[in-house]
Amino acid sequence: MGAKIIALLGSPLLNGNTAKLLDRAIQGAREAGAEVERIEVTNLNIRACREIMFCREHETCAMKDDMQGIYGKFRDIDGVILATPVMTMGIPGMLKSFIDRFQVYFMAKYVRKKPLVVEEKRKSRLGLYLGISGMNLPSVFDGAKMTVHAFFDIIDVQYWDDLLIRDMDTLQDLSRHPELMDDAYAKGRELGRHLMGRE
Ligand SMILES: Cc1cc2nc3c(=O)[nH]c(=O)nc-3n(C[C@H](O)[C@H](O)[C@H](O)COP(=O)(O)O)c2cc1C
Repeated sequence: MGAKIIALLGSPLLNGNTAKLLDRAIQGAREAGAEVERIEVTNLNIRACREIMFCREHETCAMKDDMQGIYGKFRDIDGVILATPVMTMGIPGMLKSFIDRFQVYFMAKYVRKKPLVVEEKRKSRLGLYLGISGMNLPSVFDGAKMTVHAFFDIIDVQYWDDLLIRDMDTLQDLSRHPELMDDAYAKGRELGRHLMGRE
């Protein structure tokens, strides 16, 4: 059996710089033999968490939207690649709402103590965070990184590695910087190799 990865695109731009970076990482992971499903968060029909707290007692959310089809996908994967631009020193609103809706996993893990992640995968899942920012500030990823850490923790994914690219306002188009695209490919391939090597 191969390794399964979900690759999340957090940018609203389907062909923007984040998407280009993610696609190179996906290429690398597939090259290593992993099976990768790419999910464009911006195209999901989802709403922000309304704190109904149905998930305090149940293994799903009371809100009937595309999250219903998402929860199951995260139970038995081996890895996650999360690619997102920095927006207002955090992450894009749609992606934040997507992550907040994993309250379903939070309640199961921390409140009911019955995690939704398949038992044999709980300690071994790995996450790769690909971040890009317009500004060139040392702290520009701080907010986003904390959110990614929290998300990975909730879904039982270890924060394995990241690739953080600053100063996109100057760099403009990532495809004109093949060395950065190659870095994304290498990270994706390394993640795929790690996960495939466990069989
Ligand atoms: C609404 C919005 C808010 C943004 N906020 C920030 C920010 O707070 N800090 C920053 O460094 N870049 C910020 N940016 C710049 C993006 O991170 C940058 O342009 C990124 O390359 C966009 O990725 P994309 O090509 O996938 O859309 C913002 C961009 C947008 C559209």
